[in-house]
Amino acid sequence: MSSGLLELFSGIGAAGRAWGGSVVGAIDQNPHANATYRANHGLAPRAWNLAGVTAAQLSAFQAERWWLSPPCQPFTVRGARRDLEDPRVKPLLRVLAILCELRPPVVAMENVPGFVASATRGELRAALIAAGYTLDERLLCPTSLGVPMRRQRYYLVARLGRDGGHRSQFETPAAAPPARPLVGFLDEVPEPALYVSEALISTWGHSVNILEAKNPTAVATCFTSAYGRSPVRSGSYLRDGGGVRYFSPEEILRLMGFPGGFAFPAGLDRHIRWDLAGNTLSVDAVRSLALET
Ligand SMILES: C[S@@+](CC[C@H](N)C(=O)[O-])C[C@H]1O[C@@H](n2cnc3c(N)ncnc32)[C@H](O)[C@@H]1O
Repeated sequence: MSSGLLELFSGIGAAGRAWGGSVVGAIDQNPHANATYRANHGLAPRAWNLAGVTAAQLSAFQAERWWLSPPCQPFTVRGARRDLEDPRVKPLLRVLAILCELRPPVVAMENVPGFVASATRGELRAALIAAGYTLDERLLCPTSLGVPMRRQRYYLVARLGRDGGHRSQFETPAAAPPARPLVGFLDEVPEPALYVSEALISTWGHSVNILEAKNPTAVATCFTSAYGRSPVRSGSYLRDGGGVRYFSPEEILRLMGFPGGFAFPAGLDRHIRWDLAGNTLSVDAVRSLALET
């Protein structure tokens, strides 16, 4: 078995980016995510549907660490919180059954805070504990790491063996003052198409969160994949010298902790870029988990 990471539901590869070691495989069914992944990480993800993956397919990667970022819609208000009744939970349950059979030394997972109270989490915990893992579960938010963006998420690190002293820590993490103010994450020359009309602002009024670009304590709300499509509760807007505008997908990626050289494939539609950026993970939060065995 290699010491490498297998990134499942790999998206644009935040977990691989955070992990200091080699990534031996990635799997995702979204072709735009896979093209972005390949362009930036030099590894072509398999475009497989994980709801039908086999133990032989996953064991062929010989990976010591498995990262899982399954869909969050079954555990969100917007996704109707159907939990185990939601067909989008099937690929997670499939992977769970296989990993309990193959027992890689380290398994880690991320999801929305709504996952904590779900029946799916109950199944996940029971299966992992029965397979001999010790669990460390917690909520993390990039604001507690000095990043000016909220994205509170559930994280699990499960290690095979250890002492069985499971840990679950679900207090809201305390925010630290931004180590680097918001302005440090912004594009030098924002695209004119990002600016929104006064009509949008007056229609949605107080539901719209607008940040002042030069405010050193400004903290963005959580960006979701609906940013740019849903005018409210999908992420902050920004007021700069040119008016009120959306954050660009590239600005969101910087807030997510992706390095400067990371780029989407040329010509990729902005709504697809927002979708991929809003679906990804905080690289800083994942890095703070330390996935070493
Ligand atoms: C929350 S996003 C994960 C994002 C990723 N961690 C990243 O760094 O960008 C969930 C991902 O799961 C993928 N996905 C959803 N259902 C899938 C399935 N049945 N098989 C394979 N991939 C799936 C989606 O395409 C999406 O990229």
